[in-house]
Amino acid sequence: IFTTKEQALKFVAQVVVQRINDFQASTSKPFVLGLPTGSSPEGVYAELVQLYKAGKVSFKNVVTFNMDEYLGLPPQDSRSYHYFMFDKLFNHVDIPRENINILNGLAKDPEAECAAYEAKISKYGRINLFLGGVGPEGHLAFNEAGSTRESRTRVVDLVPSTIEANARFFDNDKSKVPTKALSVGISTILDNSEEIIILVFGKNKQKALSWTLSSKNNSQVPSTYLADHSNVLLVSDLSAHSQS
Ligand code: GLP
Repeated sequence: IFTTKEQALKFVAQVVVQRINDFQASTSKPFVLGLPTGSSPEGVYAELVQLYKAGKVSFKNVVTFNMDEYLGLPPQDSRSYHYFMFDKLFNHVDIPRENINILNGLAKDPEAECAAYEAKISKYGRINLFLGGVGPEGHLAFNEAGSTRESRTRVVDLVPSTIEANARFFDNDKSKVPTKALSVGISTILDNSEEIIILVFGKNKQKALSWTLSSKNNSQVPSTYLADHSNVLLVSDLSAHSQS
């Protein structure tokens, strides 16, 4: 728990850099990093760019897998997660283009796209570090209430509360938010990741955080599945903790 979000973001960026550097000091294998979008990780990416520019880290041997993407949004659409990632991180560091994996929101066969994504993660045999956020109702990636512990990368229907929460990126107009997305599953995250760091900031995450800390494996609040993993760090600011 950090007093402010800014302190937390700096801490997380430093941990990411340390994990990449420690791993690369011991092997020539790529460091596999799972990445989220949203307002929570944005500041982490800004810090990572600064650390890269200061020569503290290189992404040349880092492979990334993003968690999710809206179905139907082309990569060049500024609301797509693809665009977000290039804008906030990839355009500013030395990661090779072929090391970047993001689900294709325009895939002709979305289910085949999801299966191929899952297979590609399996090919690496691990995700060294998965960075994630939570939605106000406790969704992880786009795993909405009702997602199972066994879920894998798939097409999902977004629930009204998610559409409402994300309307801020679509001119505050719910009708413009895509209703479907491609998302890694709960099993994709928990069963492949060696370490998971979840960012939880702000008052609107109080409910999700308290549910996550007080219950386990509740399919109605997918973030409670995190209790099923032995190496999870929840990084929060004070305002995410209920004062009552
Ligand atoms: C979206 C993303 C999630 C993310 C969540 C929280 O719904 N699909 O992966 O964790 O937003 O976003 P924020 O950090 O902006 O609150």
